[in-house]
Amino acid sequence: MTQVTESQLRNRGEALGRSLPPGSILLFRGEVGAGKTTFIKAIATGLGVDSATASPTFALVHRYQGRRGPVFHIDCYRLGEPDEARDLDWEGLLRDGDVLLIEWPDRAGPWLPQATHQFGLSHVDDPDLRRLEES
Ligand SMILES: Nc1ncnc2c1ncn2[C@@H]1O[C@H](COP(=O)(O)OP(=O)(O)O)[C@@H](O)[C@H]1O
Ligand SMILES: [Mg+2]
Repeated sequence: MTQVTESQLRNRGEALGRSLPPGSILLFRGEVGAGKTTFIKAIATGLGVDSATASPTFALVHRYQGRRGPVFHIDCYRLGEPDEARDLDWEGLLRDGDVLLIEWPDRAGPWLPQATHQFGLSHVDDPDLRRLEES
């Protein structure tokens, strides 16, 4: 079990982003406020994304330009039911994306692609720390 401060989480995310091979598909689980988006943004930075140029495409999918190619942040939080995930262009995301970062993956149900990395974030007693697990 690892407990991390926010800056440690960002540092880990950036280092991970710098080392991810093309085609990586990462899943992030954890309750609201656990730090998933914070971690994802740091990973994107490590992939060469300049957050100033981040441009949301539509509600669920954010497309960022990384140094090797597009980085897609897919936030399934707003999916009402797994069948709504069918309407996401998974084929296009898998074809065009250098890396996919998927938040609330279980809401995509059977449409979820096979992951290469899975992370869980959770609150602990200290509000400045989070538990980070890789599975
Ligand atoms: N150790 C920590 N790691 C990550 N976030 C932290 C930490 N401590 C405090 N925070 C705060 O918790 C919030 C996490 O928000 P966010 O990353 O959007 O979570 P999620 O996407 O899981 O809902 C941020 O406001 C962040 O500043
Ligand atoms: Mg989030």
